[in-house]
Amino acid sequence: MSILFINACVRKDSRTLRLAKHLLSKLDGEITELNLEKENIQALTQDTLAYRDTCLHCGKFGDPMLSYANQFANAETIVIAAPFWDMSFPSSLKNYIEAITVSGVTFTYVNGIPKGLCKGKKLYFVSTCGGPFTPDFGYNYIKTMAQGFYGIPETQLFTAEFLDVIGNDVEAILKAAEESIDKTF
Ligand SMILES: Cc1cc2nc3c(=O)[nH]c(=O)nc-3n(C[C@H](O)[C@H](O)[C@H](O)COP(=O)(O)O)c2cc1C
Repeated sequence: MSILFINACVRKDSRTLRLAKHLLSKLDGEITELNLEKENIQALTQDTLAYRDTCLHCGKFGDPMLSYANQFANAETIVIAAPFWDMSFPSSLKNYIEAITVSGVTFTYVNGIPKGLCKGKKLYFVSTCGGPFTPDFGYNYIKTMAQGFYGIPETQLFTAEFLDVIGNDVEAILKAAEESIDKTF
């Protein structure tokens, strides 16, 4: 099984990364990590969008600009680690979504309806937050993209909440989150 690990964690000693690594230790397969900070994927611009459109129009699906999309399309299992930022996730992950959501590579349109072209069967989303976790603008968006665009049928969420509340036992919360991961395997 090929596992694509999309690491959108930012802080040193990231709690989200700790949980994601715990999850990855439970999965069998070869892990390829994309550290989004290192990848530094830029938001699409007038020029890069036009270039991408030209590639797609000319059938240049092997162009380096489409490498993230091709890699994502071929991954069997996907693990995304993203801290809960501003009710969603860091913008590096949004830039990544822009880079992989490519018609003709990760999805296509059939009578105007997106149809997935990805091999992936399961996408895990791992997040931690300072207060309560709300799935609306982060996890639910990723789930909608996975199921509605990429054709990845199953998604699963793991979180640890209230980590920044003064007096909370952070270690105990993280241990409980790790145990909830253990229970699903
Ligand atoms: C830029 C930024 C935005 C954040 N936004 C929220 C938020 O909207 N809601 C919340 O509960 N916590 C928020 N937090 C707190 C983080 O979700 C929390 O500290 C989380 O555990 C960080 O994950 P990490 O340890 O993997 O970096 C924010 C933290 C940062 C740095």
